[in-house]
Amino acid sequence: PDNRSLTVVVLGASGDLAKKKTYPALFSLFLRDLLPSTTIIYGYARSHIEISDFKKRIAQGLKGNEEKKQEFLNLLHYHSGQYDEKKAYDEFEKLIDAEEQKKASSVAHNRLFYMAIPPSIFIEVSIGIQGSLLSKSGWSRVIVEKPFGRDLTTSRQLANDLGKLFKEKDLFRIDHYLGKEMVQNLMVLRFANAVFEPLWSKSHISSITITFKEDIGTEGRGGYFDQFGIIRDVMQNHLLQVLSLVAMEPPVSLNADDITNEKVKLLRCIQPIKLDEVVLGQYVSDDSGKHPSYTDDDGVPKDSVTPTYAAAVFHINNPRWRGMPFILKCGKALDERKTEVRIQFKRPDNFLFRDEEISRNELVMRIQPGEAVYLKLLTKKPGLENSIEQTELDLSYRHRFENLDLPDAYERLILDAIKGDHNLFVRDDELDVAWQIFTPLLEQIENLKVQPEPYKFGSRGPKSADELSKKFGFVRSLGYNWPGNSPK
Ligand code: BG6
Repeated sequence: PDNRSLTVVVLGASGDLAKKKTYPALFSLFLRDLLPSTTIIYGYARSHIEISDFKKRIAQGLKGNEEKKQEFLNLLHYHSGQYDEKKAYDEFEKLIDAEEQKKASSVAHNRLFYMAIPPSIFIEVSIGIQGSLLSKSGWSRVIVEKPFGRDLTTSRQLANDLGKLFKEKDLFRIDHYLGKEMVQNLMVLRFANAVFEPLWSKSHISSITITFKEDIGTEGRGGYFDQFGIIRDVMQNHLLQVLSLVAMEPPVSLNADDITNEKVKLLRCIQPIKLDEVVLGQYVSDDSGKHPSYTDDDGVPKDSVTPTYAAAVFHINNPRWRGMPFILKCGKALDERKTEVRIQFKRPDNFLFRDEEISRNELVMRIQPGEAVYLKLLTKKPGLENSIEQTELDLSYRHRFENLDLPDAYERLILDAIKGDHNLFVRDDELDVAWQIFTPLLEQIENLKVQPEPYKFGSRGPKSADELSKKFGFVRSLGYNWPGNSPK
């Protein structure tokens, strides 16, 4: 409502995340008329940049109508200052305050702080916000994004330090996968339909695979990536979030805390991951030599053993899932870009058809690209023959929903933070349990200096990963290609 103005403060405004994600998401909200008319967007960073150059930089990341772009750029302000000086924040506060007074003097001023900064300065910036920048008349909320530490100890330290500065209700930890359309759809699919839930257990399902593939390498991000590796970069957060939504019990209500309680309960049932149920890989140049090896990337030591690919088997010790494997796979520089959840059902218990005729039913939730839900099944081949054919019931969003205009994950998350809705954000205890799951495995990998298996840029990944899936009962259906598979 317009009796409260909104000031968005982007800390680290001159960086990549701000340019690629934060500002474009704010622009989309602006285009949809979802920002109050009194919105001010103030960028802060160390670099001295003229406001006109700053606007040019931000404009590069915006798509759409030129006139609207200009209107949006008019809302932007920028100020440079140090991250560790109280004086600099006090000065910044005066500027924000003056702008707020100019725009809407008689209303309460809410402030949303977006930390688009490296984690090494989360705390000093938080101290700066806490000491000088909090709103005196409205709420103050803070958005932060991973990496939240690199193991249980560092994550707890960070949680502790942040916890001293902000209340949990004012902290919004982003896992941008939670902002994706299909990830949100998981709850609706599971709990709003009568047909799935009765099948949703080890009684009918033989395995669930969650796959994240990218067809690009680390490309210049190697310096950052090498300190983390794919398990911390993708599996510990994005894939684990998807896993918890797929596997959790029905929550008591749709309230954020009730949902998170179920997710945490589920995560606590995950058994320690065994190193011999993990495959690690690192990409190497392909035959053409067009694509580099991981270790060619700037900032990556030549002898790095950081995995760019990981597959791991998860066992959930609860009545619904005990004994049924969850296989999580993620990798960079693979043959395609896709993220999906694949639920493979057991064979039907019948005697009418020969084993080799029966491929498994699979329910696939395609998170990206090309959002879709499809169910692979067998039908009689149409015509006089009596043979069986693999086909599918296909809900491809772009065919089913006209003028599909899906918001970007960040857009939805920023909007939710403005509304104060925690549903799609990560709670402190959820993060803690995620680190409890992965820390022992990561320590083992690092202490033993496990050598990743090389795989070629543009391939399906390490061969052992397919073997691992097979060992845990996953049956690959050869000769079937989902028609919705969009060309690269
Ligand atoms: C980020 C990871 O969190 O997610 C990146 O740090 C990864 O390495 C990215 O590329 C993937 O996000 P999306 O939305 O492109 O699937």
